[in-house]
Amino acid sequence: MAQNWTPSSWRQKPIQQVPEFPDKAALAATEAQLATFPPLVFAGEARRLKKQLASVAEGNAFLLQGGDCAESFVEHGADNIRDFFRSFLQMAVVLTYGAQLPVVKVGRIAGQFAKPRSNSHESQDGKTLLTYRGDIVNGTEFTEEARTPDPERQMMAYRQSAATLNLLRAFAMGGYANLENVHKWMLGFVKDSPQGERYRKLADRISETMDFMKAIGITAENQPSLRETDFFTSHEALLLGYEEAFTRVDSTSGDWYATSGHMLWIGDRTRQLDHAHVEYFRGIKNPIGLKCGPSLQADNLIELIDALNPTNEAGRLTLICRFGYDKVADSLPKLIRAVEREGRKVVWSCDPMHGNTITLNSYKTRPFDRILSEVESFFQIHRAEGTHPGGIHIEMTGKDVTECTGGARAVSAGDLQDRYHTHCDPRLNADQALELAFLLAERMKSGRDEKRMVVNG
Ligand code: TRP
Ligand code: MN
Repeated sequence: MAQNWTPSSWRQKPIQQVPEFPDKAALAATEAQLATFPPLVFAGEARRLKKQLASVAEGNAFLLQGGDCAESFVEHGADNIRDFFRSFLQMAVVLTYGAQLPVVKVGRIAGQFAKPRSNSHESQDGKTLLTYRGDIVNGTEFTEEARTPDPERQMMAYRQSAATLNLLRAFAMGGYANLENVHKWMLGFVKDSPQGERYRKLADRISETMDFMKAIGITAENQPSLRETDFFTSHEALLLGYEEAFTRVDSTSGDWYATSGHMLWIGDRTRQLDHAHVEYFRGIKNPIGLKCGPSLQADNLIELIDALNPTNEAGRLTLICRFGYDKVADSLPKLIRAVEREGRKVVWSCDPMHGNTITLNSYKTRPFDRILSEVESFFQIHRAEGTHPGGIHIEMTGKDVTECTGGARAVSAGDLQDRYHTHCDPRLNADQALELAFLLAERMKSGRDEKRMVVNG
């Protein structure tokens, strides 16, 4: 295993989910050009995120990771980014209060373009074409031209990522993330939600806390931490030629970092131990994620941890569990016990989206109840095992789409056609996302109250 690593050593390994570019020379030219472009993030930021994730691994913080399944070129605009960020921050406030812990904020954004697919080809009306693999590879339209992988798209993905990240940095540091604003938006949601009564208690307590802080002179004017927030980016690093072009040596440490985003993850379909993706990831120093699905066996997980985090550094590795509401009870405890037995430091995060996809009226959808059920099981299992349920990883948007069924403002199977906009998997809409945060916060709070009673009783 301990062979020499270089940013291109993955090219010697077998690889899954790689698009066939017809013009190899054009692909090589694009990659060479990308390698001359400025990095999107800086190694110091990735280290800062790793530190925050170490705190999650130790049980002292909570991870919120979320965003689009796939970003798209046509939907790139300020309103979408703002609405996403606004929903995300509201979730973060509610979860901070519920967990009584800092929330580490990581978007699936500014680089989440490449998609793994179950089939390489797709047929419609007797015609067979390559499948869509994300805007960084090809187009969604069912034409030969659109479906042909085009390296030029990587330039566009880079530019879009840079512009998105620029706006997010401005929002995070320029006053938009002011806790007082976010609190007001959250109250607006509670007022309008059909389940508002249920959430009011928690919302009122947040309001009281804000009033108390103000009374003792802690305000956004005199406390930068109340008006600014750390926000990080992440994506599935699937297209390794693109990632290689942005893999750079950090001049302060001499280490290699992926600079296309702060945190990258390995998909459930590309986590073979001796294959290209694991090879690439072992050499970069960023915090990384590993998607864990029902087919992952405990001994295989330990081998992957050996390869990806040989020094057992806390914060380096987040295990993003995506089993399905009906499989989590069977799959998760075995993995937790193996990791505990071996003394490995990981962040446990729950992706309740990908194991709960069904088809209704020929739409891919996800029932809100099942999403909630998987998160609840995840929390219960960790409580039973004595480990920290470190975070959640969700697909969401700030818009009022109809892609997942259920929620307080119930989306029915018949509603799916109304605003089904996703380019890939169904996302929680703004209300469903915030509702999930409230329900989780309630559960975390009651968990704490129970513990307190045990201590005081
Ligand atoms: N800086 C703190 C944090 O990021 C508090 C904070 C400011 C905050 N704005 C926020 C928390 C928006 C959540 C959402 O946690
Ligand atoms: Mn997805």
